[in-house]
Amino acid sequence: MQLQLFFPFPSPSPPPLPQTPTLIITSTLFSSFFFFFLVVLVLFSSHQRRQPKGKILPPGSMGWPYIGETLKFYTQNPDSFFANRRRRYGDTFKTHILGCPCVMISSPEAARIVLVTKAHLFKPTYPPSKEKMIGPQALFFHQGAYHSRLKKLVLAAFLPSVIRGSVSEIEQIVLKFLPTWENTTINTLQEMKRYAFDVAMISAFGHKRDSEMKGIKQLYQCLEKGYNSMPLDLPGTPFHKAMKARKQLNETLRRLIQERRGNEKAGGGGLLGNLLGAKNHKVDQLSDSQIADNVIGVIFAAHDTTASVLTWVLKYLHDNRDLLEAVTREQDGIQRKIIEENRRLTWDDTRHMPLTTRVIQETLRRASILSFTFREAVEDVEFEGYYIPKGWKVLPLFRTIHHCADFFPQPEKFDPSRFEVPLRPNTFIPFGNGVHSCPGSELAKLEMLVLLHHLTTSYRWQVVGDEDGIQYGPFPVPKRGLPVKVTPLQK
Ligand code: HEM
Ligand SMILES: *[C@@H]1O[C@H](CO)[C@@H](O)[C@H](O)[C@H]1NC(C)=O
Ligand SMILES: *[C@@H]1O[C@H](CO)[C@@H](O)[C@H](O)[C@H]1NC(C)=O
Repeated sequence: MQLQLFFPFPSPSPPPLPQTPTLIITSTLFSSFFFFFLVVLVLFSSHQRRQPKGKILPPGSMGWPYIGETLKFYTQNPDSFFANRRRRYGDTFKTHILGCPCVMISSPEAARIVLVTKAHLFKPTYPPSKEKMIGPQALFFHQGAYHSRLKKLVLAAFLPSVIRGSVSEIEQIVLKFLPTWENTTINTLQEMKRYAFDVAMISAFGHKRDSEMKGIKQLYQCLEKGYNSMPLDLPGTPFHKAMKARKQLNETLRRLIQERRGNEKAGGGGLLGNLLGAKNHKVDQLSDSQIADNVIGVIFAAHDTTASVLTWVLKYLHDNRDLLEAVTREQDGIQRKIIEENRRLTWDDTRHMPLTTRVIQETLRRASILSFTFREAVEDVEFEGYYIPKGWKVLPLFRTIHHCADFFPQPEKFDPSRFEVPLRPNTFIPFGNGVHSCPGSELAKLEMLVLLHHLTTSYRWQVVGDEDGIQYGPFPVPKRGLPVKVTPLQK
């Protein structure tokens, strides 16, 4: 279940990058075989770099030639990898990971240049295996006219004015899950993935038929298993199985698309409805495979991310009892009003949850599950007095910005009250910034609020075991997916 859409370079799990001997590096990498490689590479690598006179590269260490700093990246906590270099070299520094020269960006202003003001000079970049698996026509991979056309359609499907109509459907999903957790020990991450997946499915397909959805869900699970594995397309490998599932998804979606194209009334709405409707806007109709790649891509981007954040919300509320009680009071107040007025939870209710909203914001900051994103310089770029050569990777470090004490004093502390006052611009970017920023941010927050409303007013959860560690899957989540025992709240 490891979604690396935004994490094309591997976390401590097996590295998927092709083309280089570093493929064989795993966390147990100190084999003599490996050292042999290292020696050979050091002896033979030519360490030249094209560098025009008078232009300087950002400071930093490129590590060992070719192998670069990969070893250090894998064997240290990523936080200390970045923090050490930032201390030594400043906010912008170069390094070398998995055969790619990289520039790391850790000031809010510089990240804004890469993602917003000079976004056209920095294109998104993903390993080819990920593109193949998600679908090469999905919007993440594109830049320019095709991207902006699709982005408009995707954004339109997730506008507040649209998703406010899904509150009761989302609530139904919550009310389906909660009783199944009662008096049992659940794996929080797994359950949140199931929840976020169901929400993603209704926003992708609109009103749906359960039979079709079951099939799609199974294929997805298969796809995800292979997503983070080595991209070896040989019979029996997880990658091979995932590609097979991807082909079947192709077929299933094509049937669905054809059916809806043939019958405007076939039902629908959702993202799929928006993408199908594109022809009405005097632009060329999108092809079946363009639509399929984007639907599959959005569902991918939607559920692991949201599930990981929700898992952290439960962890932080569990560890901060006073906050949990304060959030419960806020939600109890809303529940009383709903009962008095004899109605169901609405979008407007979710706009009156200031403390719960700040808990979600602080979780997005503190957990920063997307530590960074990737771009690639499309030409030689002058950048803050430095020079970034064409083809170099550029990584805005979201997590490092979110954990900088200048913007968030005592950054390790979980303190939602930070969000009571306006923040410095561009210092809080959990959903990215600029043309590629997240179109699902409002949906993600909405589904978290709806779940927390029912969970805090009716249940308590106790973490099972006392390990406090983090696992990367590939997003950082509490160890073992946070097993908790859920009990009904006695009132
Ligand atoms: C809390 C959960 C989520 C977080 C933290 C998150 C974060 C992000 C970030 C940081 C980006 C920008 C990546 C970059 O600039 O390279 C992004 C892009 C994206 N997200 Fe989310 N996301 C979340 C949930 C969702 C949901 C629910 C959806 C479903 C609509 C979604 C769909 C997308 C898509 C389609 C993109 C690509 C946009 C583009 O390339 O133009 N995300 N997300
Ligand atoms: C869970 O346990 C509580 C208290 O022991 C009990 O009142 C409740 O009925 C149980 N719920 C289920 C679904 O078994
Ligand atoms: C899905 O179908 C399209 C044609 O519509 C094809 O180009 C693409 O390669 C297919 N993808 C997979 C993974 O089979």
